[in-house]
Amino acid sequence: MKTQVAIIGAGPSGLLLGQLLHLQGIDTVILEAKSPEYVLGRIRAGVLEQGFVDLLREAKASARMDMEGHVHEGFSMCFDGRQQRVDLKALTGGKTVMVYGQTEVTKDLMDARAATGATSIYEAENVQIYDIDTEHPRISFIKNGEVIQLHCDYIAGCDGFHGVSRQSAPKDQIKTFERVYPFGWLGVLSRTPPVADELIYANHPRGFALCSMRSSTLSRYYVQCALTDNIDDWSDERFWDELKSRLPENVAKQLVTGPSIEKSIAPLRSFVTEPMKFGRMFLVGDAAHIVPPTGAKGLNLASSDVYTLYHAMRKHYQEGRSDLLEKYSDICLRRIWKAERFSWWMTSILHNFDDDEFNHRIQQAELAYYTSSEAGLTTIAENYVGLPYEAVE
Ligand code: APR
Ligand code: PHB
Repeated sequence: MKTQVAIIGAGPSGLLLGQLLHLQGIDTVILEAKSPEYVLGRIRAGVLEQGFVDLLREAKASARMDMEGHVHEGFSMCFDGRQQRVDLKALTGGKTVMVYGQTEVTKDLMDARAATGATSIYEAENVQIYDIDTEHPRISFIKNGEVIQLHCDYIAGCDGFHGVSRQSAPKDQIKTFERVYPFGWLGVLSRTPPVADELIYANHPRGFALCSMRSSTLSRYYVQCALTDNIDDWSDERFWDELKSRLPENVAKQLVTGPSIEKSIAPLRSFVTEPMKFGRMFLVGDAAHIVPPTGAKGLNLASSDVYTLYHAMRKHYQEGRSDLLEKYSDICLRRIWKAERFSWWMTSILHNFDDDEFNHRIQQAELAYYTSSEAGLTTIAENYVGLPYEAVE
């Protein structure tokens, strides 16, 4: 088998990159370890920056998002028993975010790829990467018991945090940076109307809480929990009681509860890989970096990587500009570290760290300061709507 760009992983990064390259006449093959049903079973965040929205439109996979997604002009932060709105639109000169689930984005991209007839191989086992330091990289994998070789010009490692791509980088060339947080998020999806029209992030002595949504009838809520907690420790009733206890009284009163349709615990981590290019292999999205979900930046960061690689590849194949592929890491990492900073900061000011009362007082002061100052609110707003993408030139 032969292709121009071999893409490992059919999450949002791999699918979006594949679609954009295909529309430019660049041949891709996507290899995915799991089945399509498994990939679509994952529930992830649902706040899209304008940069991602624009890229999905360019990929011609935005029709359903444009119909069913909801534009949000602000969100709230609660602390000290009060609620403070961050008016994204007013503070950023008109910018907003789109609330539309990542699972739906993935489905739309899968459908768009299927319609093009481009090759995607699901349940590809034992994917292995060879010769990235030569002009002829190669991937081997097993499909239905048969070993297949895929020859390509370049490899895009879009295979998430646990994928094979980052692990295939030469150990003496890769450096990683990591912070693990001493708590997790317990998330619940329920077929209930959201407690409010906009997202609410809450700092409370009992721990962080988040009220989010997928639509006017589907809500997504989270509470900070101990890393040692098991999902069986959390009945629906315990979850709703805990969530209510962490929200201001007037918000808690509005909360409509119901049976959970999904419940899961996720750890929180900050992680960055440097560089993101090893010979002819590029790391994209979660394969290269992780943010804690507090700023809703995971998919949006993957998006700026895809944007950068897409334009560098396009100009390489169409204009012979191979110099841009060499700039991939540096361009991506400048934006990644800024989003890492914002996600770390949002996590730091909103969670309970080991019941440390000094820390809690500092958080209250920081939240009171930022939300009472035009400069502070603007800082939060311009990061939340997403920092600009760097031109690839
Ligand atoms: N071979 C082939 N595919 C693999 C392999 C492998 N060895 N390892 C992992 N994969 C697949 C996974 O099954 C998954 O479908 O790669 C895909 C990676 O997808 P994601 O983890 O969703 O990563 P990415 O596409 O970069 O998405 C960006 O945004 O909100 C965040 O973390 C969230 O996933 C989200 C991310
Ligand atoms: C979500 O809707 O799942 C969500 C929203 C905002 C976040 C994290 C998760 O910051």
